[in-house]
Amino acid sequence: MSDIRDEVVADFSDAFGYEPQGVWSAPGRVNLIGEHTDYNDGFVFPFAINRRTVLALGVRDDRRIRVASSFADEVVEIDIDDLSAEALEGWSAYPLGVAWALGEFGADLAAVPGVDVFIDSTVPVGAGLSSSAAIESAMAVALDEVWQLGFDRSTLARVGQRAENDAVGAPTGIMDQSASLLGQKDAGVFLDCRTLDAEVIDLGFQAAGLELLIIDTGVSHSHATGGYADRRASCERGAAALGVESLRDVTVDDLARAREVLDDETFRRVRHVVTENQRVLDTVRTLREEGPLAIGSLLDESHVSMRDDFEISVPELDLAVEVAQANGAIGARMTGGGFGGAAIALLPTDAVSRLQVAIDGAFAEHGFGQPVTFTVSASEGAKRER
Ligand code: GLA
Repeated sequence: MSDIRDEVVADFSDAFGYEPQGVWSAPGRVNLIGEHTDYNDGFVFPFAINRRTVLALGVRDDRRIRVASSFADEVVEIDIDDLSAEALEGWSAYPLGVAWALGEFGADLAAVPGVDVFIDSTVPVGAGLSSSAAIESAMAVALDEVWQLGFDRSTLARVGQRAENDAVGAPTGIMDQSASLLGQKDAGVFLDCRTLDAEVIDLGFQAAGLELLIIDTGVSHSHATGGYADRRASCERGAAALGVESLRDVTVDDLARAREVLDDETFRRVRHVVTENQRVLDTVRTLREEGPLAIGSLLDESHVSMRDDFEISVPELDLAVEVAQANGAIGARMTGGGFGGAAIALLPTDAVSRLQVAIDGAFAEHGFGQPVTFTVSASEGAKRER
């Protein structure tokens, strides 16, 4: 099998006519638990996956940035002095947004040289596995190095988030970039999104004979429009009505009072976030004390909460979860922002192929499009490859 790092170097040379200086990569992520909690200052527990964005980069002797990729025919060019959130659009807003955002975090962009970048990726797009954060994080570590900025990884995560929020226009939280930058092999990233304190915690799936199966429904979603921003606004309304800075400050015990203060819909949005934060804490504790075989019911409960209270699931995701639970999964839930994308199922290795067949059959029976299923393992975060 050909190595994507060799391919990206060859593609760089074809596009730009010289050899790149280096190759960097960053992974996509899957969120084990903690959904729509990041922008509420809460807790998340994602891990970086073994699907990566890989880029080759060459430093120029002028002030141009040129980006090319395997997923678009065009080469997009801009002068560093012309970078702004408004100037960027389409796929290039992800990598170029990072170059712009580094300046927002204090990099002296007047003093840095231009670069040429070629990007390729094995992170599926639109599956809820953060192909966008993978591009941002690969770009962030590459530019941090060649521009000699010395930013730490938490800052680079915020840089990627700023690119996504302002250049791409998706009001997303800090989880995806954190997972992509801080992930480690066989471990999850337990992140406090208020303090950005991150703890890397052993998942122990392999030792317990477990696999994590991704069930990509193929239902596409976008967080730049519609539902995602709506849910975020509900959370902000709920926090304001309860007189707290963010929903992180509301506990499960406060929910009885919240029910009296809030309208039914806002209350259910709040209840999802509050109980989900608790489930993240419970998952981390259970994992440490009892191991991964004991976390299944927390994943199941998370799905019910997203389906009924936060209302971000779709019939394809609900079916994937039900079929997983009926075919050997110890726990299953939709993952990511919702309204499409993927579900995850944690299950014994020897049950994987049976579940894949069952999912295909159930989707066909319901007249849904063909899903794509594959296992992922926890991998290391963004790094220089060569
Ligand atoms: C998307 C966003 C994240 C997070 C999740 C929901 O993946 O990019 O910041 O809000 O949705 O948990």
